[in-house]
Amino acid sequence: MVEKKLPLYLKEVYGDFYNKAKLSAWFDKNWMQSLLTLGNNKTLTNALLKEIYPSCKVLQLGCTFGRQMLETAAKIGTYGIYDVLDISNIQLKRCKEKFDHLFPQVRYVQMNANTPLKKNYDVVILYMLLHEVPHRQKAKILQAALDSLKEGGKVVFIDYHKPKIWHPLRWPVKLFNRLYQPFAEILWDREVDTFVKDKSKYIWKKTLYFGGFYQKMVVQKKFSDEFADEKPFVPYQP
Ligand SMILES: C[S@@+](CC[C@H](N)C(=O)[O-])C[C@H]1O[C@@H](n2cnc3c(N)ncnc32)[C@H](O)[C@@H]1O
Repeated sequence: MVEKKLPLYLKEVYGDFYNKAKLSAWFDKNWMQSLLTLGNNKTLTNALLKEIYPSCKVLQLGCTFGRQMLETAAKIGTYGIYDVLDISNIQLKRCKEKFDHLFPQVRYVQMNANTPLKKNYDVVILYMLLHEVPHRQKAKILQAALDSLKEGGKVVFIDYHKPKIWHPLRWPVKLFNRLYQPFAEILWDREVDTFVKDKSKYIWKKTLYFGGFYQKMVVQKKFSDEFADEKPFVPYQP
């Protein structure tokens, strides 16, 4: 793979996190992901898996650590398509080494997630990606994800959300975000659909987890009404 230029925020904000193989491998451990998601890794992965079915065509924007990609590939199975897109060569290489012997059908693409691919995916996964990117990128990436869907297909977005007022971790995490995750807090204040221009083309369904801390937003592309003007079908009556 040819090395592509990484976006500035990736180096400036997350340092070597995605660019040093050893560090990346360390964060790949399941216990580490459970810690980082405050024990919710399994819940969130299972929430995603509910939206995937065997043999479907899936595009994932951004590699993840831990169990999510492995379980997604297993659920899609040998007859489906699983394309994984990431801007970081190191991350793609790590995933390829990890999964190639088990799931040789997974395709790895080095590209910025703000580029729409062919419009033929059943499911596009955005798993904990948007909180890491600057706000204008959020809108571009969401639009690219929606543009890559076939009619009736869905984007499954899993990320942070504003916790309930009583949540004991609300203030510590707010402080953590202010210090280390500058693009995350906006997901507390804005609904995901406010980043999309023509939101009426889609059906939006939100589910919250862990006292509102995390959200799953399933965004389904409506079927176009190209047949809407046709005369209604009248059954034969002798
Ligand atoms: C999807 S997030 C997930 C990290 C999260 N901590 C997890 O594993 O649940 C991180 C990935 O997104 C990638 N990424 C960030 N910005 C991107 C962009 N604009 N286009 C493509 N990939 C991007 C990073 O290189 C990294 O591999």
